[in-house]
Amino acid sequence: MKKREIDDVTGVETTGHEWDGVKELNKPLPKWWLFTFYATIVWAVGYWIVYPAWPTFTGYTTGVLGYSQRATVADELKAAQAAQGQLRDLLEKTPLDQIRTSPDLLRFAMAGGAAAFQTNCGPCHGRGAQGFTGYPNLNDDDWLWGGSIADIHKTISFGIRSDQKDARISQMPRYGLDKLIDDGQINDAAEFVLSLTGKSTDPAAVAKGRTVFADQCASCHGPDGKGKQDQGAPDLADEIWLYGGSRQAVIESIRTGRGGMMPAWAGRLDPVTIKSLAVYVHSLGGGK
Ligand code: HEC
Ligand code: HEC
Repeated sequence: MKKREIDDVTGVETTGHEWDGVKELNKPLPKWWLFTFYATIVWAVGYWIVYPAWPTFTGYTTGVLGYSQRATVADELKAAQAAQGQLRDLLEKTPLDQIRTSPDLLRFAMAGGAAAFQTNCGPCHGRGAQGFTGYPNLNDDDWLWGGSIADIHKTISFGIRSDQKDARISQMPRYGLDKLIDDGQINDAAEFVLSLTGKSTDPAAVAKGRTVFADQCASCHGPDGKGKQDQGAPDLADEIWLYGGSRQAVIESIRTGRGGMMPAWAGRLDPVTIKSLAVYVHSLGGGK
């Protein structure tokens, strides 16, 4: 073997390679680095064997463990659905008024109801169920059609003036549009309605309006204007208005009869979801 040359300046052996007088020192990689590097290669090969690694034309190498995140997720999903399924079945069987007695079931129904509300009901009733003009607030204790959980369940299932045959129906006559009473009578009736909340300024009109109301309106709104839930006729003596309590809004209600519509959900949402919604709406504050 040729004797290696030692570099004068550094005292290190050279490799014998030389370019234009520049010589290469023989400084191999540190052992620890080299062995770490070999170890990573061994690790990588092991990994290819054990885990899914290489794409093939039709799929990929699955590895001897057969590990798959997709399969893990599918398994977890199945387990979650099984757990939910039990609660769903139980909810389906439990009568409406007994759901509250089981905390687990109640929590399940509330979560499902809240989620379904956001998607299906929020656009009309508001995300917080606070309502808008013509779309009732569901947080208060004022119910057009009844605030028991059974009432609410029925309203949600069949809707209000929807085309469902079990829908809640009743239609306030269109007093102005159909010329059932004249404008003077509409005005008087409106003044009487306003007087129920202390807002009328015309006692003479109120006196005349009282008669119009007794003749035309009391059958639905009650003799004292407190409303009737079997007619969906709002309480006119509280400060809660569906369409507004200004003089103009009240006159407009009498003129047109309004007739708000709420879609039926039976058939569109499954029975368990509707039940959950009833539990949720009932819990919002004003449930009876
Ligand atoms: C297209 C608009 C619309 C959608 C969507 C809608 N509602 Fe309604 N809802 C109404 C209107 C309008 C009324 C009032 C009808 C009337 O004038 O009597 C109403 C009334 C109600 C009432 C009766 C309130 C009372 O005081 O008796 C309940 C309960 C109710 N909605 C729940 C729901 C739930 C739960 C959903 C979602 C599944 C929903 N609504 C979706 C428009 C809607
Ligand atoms: C056949 C039953 C019926 C009769 C009769 C009737 N109403 Fe109504 N009234 C209703 C119903 C139902 C509503 C709710 C309409 C809706 O939800 O869209 C209503 C709503 C109203 C409203 C709106 C209330 C609000 O909260 O915004 C006013 C005001 C009103 N009626 C006044 C009268 C007056 C005045 C008369 C008589 C001239 C009368 N109604 C006769 C059923 C009736």
